[in-house]
Amino acid sequence: MFKKVKSKILLFNQRIKNKCVLFGAGGHCKVVLDSAICSHVVIDLIVDDNPSIQELFGVKIVSSTSVCWQKIEKFLFLVSIGNNYFRKLKYEQLLVKKGIPLTIIHPSATISKLSTIGKGTIVCAGAVINPGAIIGDNCIVNTSASVDHDCYLGNHLHLCPGVNLSGGVMVGNGTMIGTGAVVLPGIRVGSECKVGAGSVVNKDLPDGVTAYGVPARVQKSNLIITQD
Ligand SMILES: CC(C)(COP(=O)(O)OP(=O)(O)OC[C@H]1O[C@@H](n2cnc3c(N)ncnc32)[C@H](O)[C@@H]1OP(=O)(O)O)[C@@H](O)C(=O)NCCC(=O)NCCS
Repeated sequence: MFKKVKSKILLFNQRIKNKCVLFGAGGHCKVVLDSAICSHVVIDLIVDDNPSIQELFGVKIVSSTSVCWQKIEKFLFLVSIGNNYFRKLKYEQLLVKKGIPLTIIHPSATISKLSTIGKGTIVCAGAVINPGAIIGDNCIVNTSASVDHDCYLGNHLHLCPGVNLSGGVMVGNGTMIGTGAVVLPGIRVGSECKVGAGSVVNKDLPDGVTAYGVPARVQKSNLIITQD
């Protein structure tokens, strides 16, 4: 099992020829930075517009206005912002600027070779991803989260620490599943949902709802309906 993970990391390392940049220097960035260091990915720069911080664990932080955007295509990037909405926004801006998304996998994560992990996604320490799982782009699979066989996860979503997705679960784009939540086999969680920490999801959830509890119940809808 260790061998499998190692070969995956070597693969990622071989692709890294250019400078690597993280966007966002908050708490989540520390976790990303640690995962990068542990997997021998050298982070050259962090971009953040908060002027009160100049460096994080020895990596220089600069404001977005001081970055030469014409040269951004020479950078690999990972958006190290926990909030799904802002992470997606920044990710899409950087793609337009021809940035190349970087995928980082902590070496202690157990990743099936029969799984697929998208571009710009971070898989943190102790996470487990089982065969047949497909994870989209710009996602966070946080510390010790598990994604069982044949799960299908969209883009820009966040599985918070200790989340357990059972086999065949589907999760839509931009959804946040809170710390320690459990999703039962075959359940579909919609896009742009928020699932509360510690919840047990035993029924499908439609797009755009906040649900929590054991069992999880829809508490509110986050979608704004506009008329054409
Ligand atoms: C579900 C969640 C998104 C709701 O956030 P919110 O809409 O701001 O809700 P509030 O904090 O205003 O709480 C509203 C009510 O729901 C209750 N509640 C909130 N989250 C709950 C949860 N996970 N389980 C049970 N009840 C919960 C609150 O106690 C409160 O009840 P009250 O009205 O009786 O006082 C949030 O509480 C949550 O669980 N987020 C997960 C965050 C997380 O795991 N982050 C990890 C980052 S690494």
